[in-house]
Amino acid sequence: MTNKTPVRVTCIVGARPNFMKMAPILAAFEVHGDFDARLIHTGQHYDVEMNAVFFQQLGLPEPDLNLGVGSGTQTTQTAQVMIGLENEFLANSPDLVLVVGDVNSTVAAALVAAKMRIPVAHVEAGLRSFDRDMPEEINRLVTDRISDLLLTTERAAGEQLEREGISSEAIHFVGNVMIDSLLSNLKQAVPIAETLSKRGFDQDIVHSISTEYALVTLHRPTNVDNSSQLSGLLDVLSDFAKRMPIVFTLHPRTRARIDAASLNDKINGPGFHVVPPLDYFAMLGATKGASLVVTDSGGLQEETTALGIPCLTVRENTERPITIKDGTNTLVGASPDLLAQALGSVSKDKTKHSRTPELWDGHAAQRIATVIYSYIKSLS
Ligand code: UD1
Repeated sequence: MTNKTPVRVTCIVGARPNFMKMAPILAAFEVHGDFDARLIHTGQHYDVEMNAVFFQQLGLPEPDLNLGVGSGTQTTQTAQVMIGLENEFLANSPDLVLVVGDVNSTVAAALVAAKMRIPVAHVEAGLRSFDRDMPEEINRLVTDRISDLLLTTERAAGEQLEREGISSEAIHFVGNVMIDSLLSNLKQAVPIAETLSKRGFDQDIVHSISTEYALVTLHRPTNVDNSSQLSGLLDVLSDFAKRMPIVFTLHPRTRARIDAASLNDKINGPGFHVVPPLDYFAMLGATKGASLVVTDSGGLQEETTALGIPCLTVRENTERPITIKDGTNTLVGASPDLLAQALGSVSKDKTKHSRTPELWDGHAAQRIATVIYSYIKSLS
């Protein structure tokens, strides 16, 4: 640290997709040298495989505090994060609170800080699915409305914020920190064969995925909380698995829904290989080696675009339009029939034309550090 007064930033993480976004930012603060950062984990995600393993692989420091809120309804979870953070901000009065993404912990932190008149910076601002059935969309709208610095991953996000009446001076197009993490960790990616072998899969299964496989993840409430929707999607996937082996990473929410609706038979058929949530390096390897990714995740739409892997998104909308415009993403729709149709026309040609979106260059976190530093200094 230099002899200048450091900028005191409290950084909030809560759920799995937050960790890969925050890691490069904390590293950039360190390199910048004039930051005094505090890391608070809300505890929204708590399983080792959803949480601790990411801290270790991403080199995230131990949080200064873990609120341990755990699971709950939307309101309970958000409210508990708010109560915990009010105490934290009162005790440590930061110059700025930094939030990333769109999870419940993000909006809870932004609300508490804004009401205490602490400046808020939102990383990944301005993304819109225009679908309020997604809890994340409400989180994005509220967080952006009350943030002071809006840090965007693509130009369309800034344009959207301006349409919503946010001053252009508050908006900074910085690029994508998720891709900072991806690029800096790619050399650590663990090949899928190793991941499956380690988990005790037979060698003939490991061999069967050596030429091609589809990586599948589904966890959005709209896809998994309704048992007929979930059942329909699993039918289509298990059919496809006879043509191309599937590696299905099972989010805890999806696992619980499959158990509750007694759908386990649908994920045990030929070519259908189920694994628990993968750690970051294993997931990078699984994505990089896939012929195709089928998902409803936001992060994977971006990661497949950065890696040039075709992605079928099982949703009616995406808040990340650049992954379609420039990248490898195709929006399928959410109905099982549409998924069957899209999978039916999957070709062996992996080379869907794509280009890396602007500023997805591995240096977004540095730009964020510069913007935040200048902003705080401009206030004093
Ligand atoms: C949350 C985010 C979502 C993100 C996803 C990544 C919100 C509104 N949603 O969804 O945007 O894509 O994280 O995973 O914040 N569970 C465990 N162990 C855990 C965490 C969750 O078993 O460590 C189970 C619990 O049964 C819990 C359920 O998963 O009730 C859902 O967890 P929750 O944090 O509410 O939302 P996600 O579906 O994970």
